Amino acid sequence: MKIAVFHGSPRKGNTYTATKIFLDESIKYENVKYSEFFLPTALPEFCTGCQLCLGNPRETCPHSQYVTPIYNAIIDADALIFTTPHYGACSMSGSMKNLLDHLDFFTLNVSPRKEIFSKKAFIITTAAGSTAAIKPIQKYLKNWGINRIYSLGFRMFTNKWGAMSESKQLKFEKRLKIAAYRFYKMPKKPPYLSTVFFYYISKFILKKYVGKGNYPYEYWEENGYFDKRPF
Ligand SMILES: Cc1cc2nc3c(=O)[nH]c(=O)nc-3n(C[C@H](O)[C@H](O)[C@H](O)COP(=O)(O)O)c2cc1C
Repeated sequence: MKIAVFHGSPRKGNTYTATKIFLDESIKYENVKYSEFFLPTALPEFCTGCQLCLGNPRETCPHSQYVTPIYNAIIDADALIFTTPHYGACSMSGSMKNLLDHLDFFTLNVSPRKEIFSKKAFIITTAAGSTAAIKPIQKYLKNWGINRIYSLGFRMFTNKWGAMSESKQLKFEKRLKIAAYRFYKMPKKPPYLSTVFFYYISKFILKKYVGKGNYPYEYWEENGYFDKRPF
């Protein structure tokens, strides 16, 4: 199993520690390998909102030099991991949001990739209120058509993993190791109902509002998505 990991913070603190426990456990299982991308180093430019990637092939992104290796790793992986601390009592880190904005062309009504529909993903977050960081990432990934999305959020009231009581650290470690095993074992499942629904809505939108001769209608046609679901 190949895993592509996206670290939403350059700080090797709580989130990194939790992710490392998960990864160290994962590589105990047969054939698990992972590649890591540290944000914002791996993607140091902000999405400019030019929308080139939404109306043209993704290579037209002005930051394609950074997006291409990330894109290749995603396509090549069987599983994806997204990690971020929870910020501002409401969401993910800016770097993680920036990554997801650069990858918005994966969305079903733009240029979905057939490889995406068989992948599983895991989101790891730390800090109180972690659910608020998990939810928007989950939404992005569902919009891409990811087969199954799992998550773990760790409520902690310190910015140092080692400052937590030993029993709390052990409890978190145990949860991460069990989750890593389950994630590894989890087989591909039927698509989410929301994926099926979004596919039909996208097909309708592209036919009615985009039309022949225009991207991404042409992308859908070339890939045969109008005739057959890509999942
Ligand atoms: C801009 C910013 C906003 C934050 N907002 C919250 C918050 O809403 N709730 C919380 O519990 N911690 C918050 N924190 C603290 C960190 O999210 C928390 O310590 C986290 O576990 C740090 O992860 P890291 O060690 O991987 O950087 C915030 C930190 C920063 C820098």
